[in-house]
Amino acid sequence: MTLFGKQQEFFGLDISGTSVKVVQLKPGPSKPSLVAYGGMVLPVGSMQSDSEVDLQNVSNAIRQVVKKAKISATQCVAALPGSGVFTSIIRMPAMPKGELADSIRWQAKQYVPSPLEEVILDWHVVGEHVKKPAPGQKAAGTAGTADAADSAGQSGGSGTAATAGDKEIEVMLIAAPIALVRKYVKIIGGAGLKPLALEIEPLSLARSVVGVRQEPVVVLDVGQAGSEISIVENGIIRLNRNTTAGGGALTRAISQSLGVDANRAEQFKRDFGLREDKLEGQIPKAVKPVLDTMVAEIRRSLDFYREQPHPQGDIREMVVVGGTARMPELLPLLSGTFGVEAKIGDPWANVNYASALKQQLHELAPSFSVTVGLAMREM
Ligand SMILES: Nc1ncnc2c1ncn2[C@@H]1O[C@H](COP(=O)(O)OP(=O)(O)OP(=O)(O)O)[C@@H](O)[C@H]1O
Ligand SMILES: [Mg+2]
Repeated sequence: MTLFGKQQEFFGLDISGTSVKVVQLKPGPSKPSLVAYGGMVLPVGSMQSDSEVDLQNVSNAIRQVVKKAKISATQCVAALPGSGVFTSIIRMPAMPKGELADSIRWQAKQYVPSPLEEVILDWHVVGEHVKKPAPGQKAAGTAGTADAADSAGQSGGSGTAATAGDKEIEVMLIAAPIALVRKYVKIIGGAGLKPLALEIEPLSLARSVVGVRQEPVVVLDVGQAGSEISIVENGIIRLNRNTTAGGGALTRAISQSLGVDANRAEQFKRDFGLREDKLEGQIPKAVKPVLDTMVAEIRRSLDFYREQPHPQGDIREMVVVGGTARMPELLPLLSGTFGVEAKIGDPWANVNYASALKQQLHELAPSFSVTVGLAMREM
């Protein structure tokens, strides 16, 4: 963003394990307007590899999507996969600004599972409390990522520290492996584009499908490779977890259990989902182990949140995104299991677009939630 003159043009780029999605918005008086969007499937296995040829294939796919969608920007904001980035909220005593960066780095050594030389470390102060009677530093969770912390003040060592005293602060640590960041930068550069920023998916989702609200919300993104669970409260990611229980695993389970090929299994999944009255209830039975894994991880996340002080109240809502959000009967299962209102997230709710696009955008909504959130950064 420039203070004066034209704002830098950029678009949101979501490179998943199997597809590339792009969205460009432009700022508007009340909400941003859609400029362009598009997507395509990646060559199988290309994103899972680190070979030059595969990375070039991904770059080429991005080039094609950008051209086809008529994206005018050459700069992008991209998402790093949640499964590859370590995040955690830690508590520590409030201290003068000058001491904070060193202290956080020292703390990070204890929490980040890989050597600090191998990661890019970012941090944001996300909360400030009066210290409780039993002091001590304690991890508050494995979490998503933040610059959602912008509202709370500080990040990356640049902010003003809380006043020292009885207060303790909550700091979100984000550690992205340097190798992963290099890979993304290389792919993006290979497509002739410039990365303005890389962020983690829960942050994009908090922007596109949660927005400004105080009450805690669970965001569940069930894509192809897996599911990502985050809890967003007051614009801040309180927690973030990943599982491999995603759309791909559901299709594989159906294919194996019913003895049909992957295409057929995919069609069954989309047409019948968890309906007991179709194919003699074979699909819900086939996918039960995958759903059990997902449910267990969501339960762990909810339990963890509820064990912490949560002055904003209990969680009543679950926003479900990712292509699998549209699987028949998934939402009622989630609502029933967790006693929350599960609904599909709509990233287009705060975007202006031509009414002729309504139907198509509605169908793409769950899959494009991360992409729209990336495109909304700083708007
Ligand atoms: N109507 C539908 N019913 C059930 N599943 C669907 C439907 N439409 C899409 N899917 C599934 O959604 C998944 C793709 O979702 P999405 O586009 O969010 O994934 P992704 O972002 O590419 O992957 P990931 O985030 O896991 O890396 C696929 O597994 C696909 O089978
Ligand atoms: Mg995704």
